[in-house]
Amino acid sequence: MVVPTYNEADNIAWIVGRLRTARPDVDVLVVDDGSPDGTGDVADELAADDPAVTVLHRTEKAGLGAAYLHGFRVALDRGYDVVGEMDADGSHQPEQLHRLLDALSHADLVIGSRWVPGGSVVNWPLTRKALSVGGNIYARLALGIPVRDVTAGYRVFRRATLEAIDLATVESAGYCFQADLAWRTHKAGLRVVEVPIEFVERVRGESKMDRAVATESLRRITRWGLAERGRQARDVLSKARGRRERPA
Ligand code: GDD
Ligand code: MN
Repeated sequence: MVVPTYNEADNIAWIVGRLRTARPDVDVLVVDDGSPDGTGDVADELAADDPAVTVLHRTEKAGLGAAYLHGFRVALDRGYDVVGEMDADGSHQPEQLHRLLDALSHADLVIGSRWVPGGSVVNWPLTRKALSVGGNIYARLALGIPVRDVTAGYRVFRRATLEAIDLATVESAGYCFQADLAWRTHKAGLRVVEVPIEFVERVRGESKMDRAVATESLRRITRWGLAERGRQARDVLSKARGRRERPA
């Protein structure tokens, strides 16, 4: 499991401990962007005590997507067959990871979803719920992707999936990385399966979601959606032309 951190000093030991207890068979890669609060040092201490925990230190805050891309590359280099992602703040419960891993038997990407039956969010203000639900509806319509929680950050991928979707061309720096990868997986004809999770809003530290992150998502998803509609329109036109030129 790749766990990105920026200022999660009060959370990282707690979440890594829970993860190692819930799934002793799962290794942890913490990807820290030089957190000023010393998260990287705390993670190093965890790694010193447990060989299943390693830490990737990056020099500056470059966004969730960039951190994940780096972490995935390292995990693939190390030969893992399954690579996952989860937040460090307790929103993604390690005790529910088995739901995701079990579903991977019939999927290429499993998403822990807030917005499927059985899924839920605990302690989010209505405004944040509206942002997530609205963002998901927009992404689903723009991209035409049949996923209810396309921005969710609790996921497990088969190795072959990450190899098939060309991570080298991913440009998303922020949270739209999540939609980007779900869409690439769907377009590659791979199976995306959602399982319900209970998302619990953090109790310690602060969210890094801000206006810039939301704007990047909106801008990129709109651009991808328009490009996709353009492709579909060209497709329809060229088929129609084909029918005219080759009458039955
Ligand atoms: N290394 C690194 N660099 N980590 C980061 C960065 C960054 O620039 N930005 C955020 N993170 C880490 C946080 O430390 C945390 O572990 C995780 O990424 C999620 O960040 P939060 O700031 O807690 O996200 P959230 O709770 O607002 O957002 C949740 O909802 C999003 C939208 O649905 C998360 O579940 C996201 O994964 C999800 O995309
Ligand atoms: Mn969070």
